[in-house]
Amino acid sequence: MDRTDNRDAILKSLNAAIKSRRLYPSAHPAIVAPVKKGHELITDSLKEKETIVIAVINEALVFEDGPVPDGERLYPDLVQNMTDKKIEAVVIERGISENELSASVEILSGKELAGPEVQKELQSRGISRFSVRSVSSKRNALEIYNNAVVVVQNVMNEIRMGKIPRGEAVNNIVNEITDKVLTDPNAIIGLAMIKSYDNYLYNHSVNVSVISIAIARAMDLSDTDLHAVGVGALLHDIGKTGVSEQIIRKPGGLSSEEWEKIKEHPLLGSRIIKSMEGIDETIGRLIYEHHVRYDHSGYPRTNSSLHPLSQIVTISDAYDALTTLRVYQQPHSPIEAIKIMSNFSGRHFNPAILQTFISAMGMYPIGTMVRLSTNQIGIVTRANREASERPALKILYDRDGEAVESPFELDLASNADITIVSAVNPAVTNVDLNEFFEKEAADAASHGAQ
Ligand SMILES: [Fe+2]
Repeated sequence: MDRTDNRDAILKSLNAAIKSRRLYPSAHPAIVAPVKKGHELITDSLKEKETIVIAVINEALVFEDGPVPDGERLYPDLVQNMTDKKIEAVVIERGISENELSASVEILSGKELAGPEVQKELQSRGISRFSVRSVSSKRNALEIYNNAVVVVQNVMNEIRMGKIPRGEAVNNIVNEITDKVLTDPNAIIGLAMIKSYDNYLYNHSVNVSVISIAIARAMDLSDTDLHAVGVGALLHDIGKTGVSEQIIRKPGGLSSEEWEKIKEHPLLGSRIIKSMEGIDETIGRLIYEHHVRYDHSGYPRTNSSLHPLSQIVTISDAYDALTTLRVYQQPHSPIEAIKIMSNFSGRHFNPAILQTFISAMGMYPIGTMVRLSTNQIGIVTRANREASERPALKILYDRDGEAVESPFELDLASNADITIVSAVNPAVTNVDLNEFFEKEAADAASHGAQ
């Protein structure tokens, strides 16, 4: 029997055993026979190696390292069972007994358990030579955010070294960010409100991506547009790799020559995009246009009409820059930033998109520190779509101005007697907003929120 025959025979036995288990009790010959046969084949196969791994990856059956041609059709019960139970891989080890295999099939075909519970059950039954790996659960907001920073950094480093980066990592991370913004926006938007002093360029890129996707979502744009604006925003400043660090990091005023250099970055960025595999051409246009204002002032000079997605990036870019501490600028609070931007509505910014952005952010955007009518101080952690003046908060200081031991949630939506009195400048408190939102994201993850 050659390797492929053995593979097919093992899969056939397992599939038959799982299928029959749905119809018959476990002692029925329709189950006992294929388990016995499967055990013989597996034992035989394990003379040459330590383990057999059977996996379902992207709905395709994989045996050891190779895909099984037509596996989903030939062994439907096995594939369906693993998919339903969120099992990515089954690992069978040398020395497995027939009883162990029989009990494993029993657990695998049982109805109740899924994901990590299957492995727990195997362990509690003392089965050590048959184990399962569940499909990796989604990453939490903090993991995604941090990974996005690394992705941007890698892309920029590769460009600086003269390499052409591939678009795959960018597309993947933007998919993850988009998924978060659609399913659980608060944590990731909270992280985008973190203002990190080091690596401004990378953090800024990720923040602009998160905010742009949130705006596109509020505008009810298509998934394709959400993805495009996310990628465009993440890469909007990659042209800065073509401008010397000295100029980029210069704290003081720039000479007109230096300023001319900076103004080249949209064009440089759009050129880099053209050579990147897997990145849509529209992205180049978003990058080219991100400093062109609504009234066509700004740079580069262009008379053609602006892509709506570029106008989203322009707004997110301005918002994030305004709310960040820079060498030359104290950070503005979210509320101040929105006020400043409103003054430029119709000139720098597309009024309709700006209005959608402002409504989506609410009167008190996530990350705003506020004082309540009770004299408590808290941070806005969740917007209230129905009544934007009544968001949810985490309370940090009690009525006497004492820092609370562990911040607790207060949802103004269900506390009609409490109102927000004013925004508070975080600089006058001891709160590290950065640390706060990292902890929030970690807590959300540990409580099972995705
Ligand atoms: Fe820029």
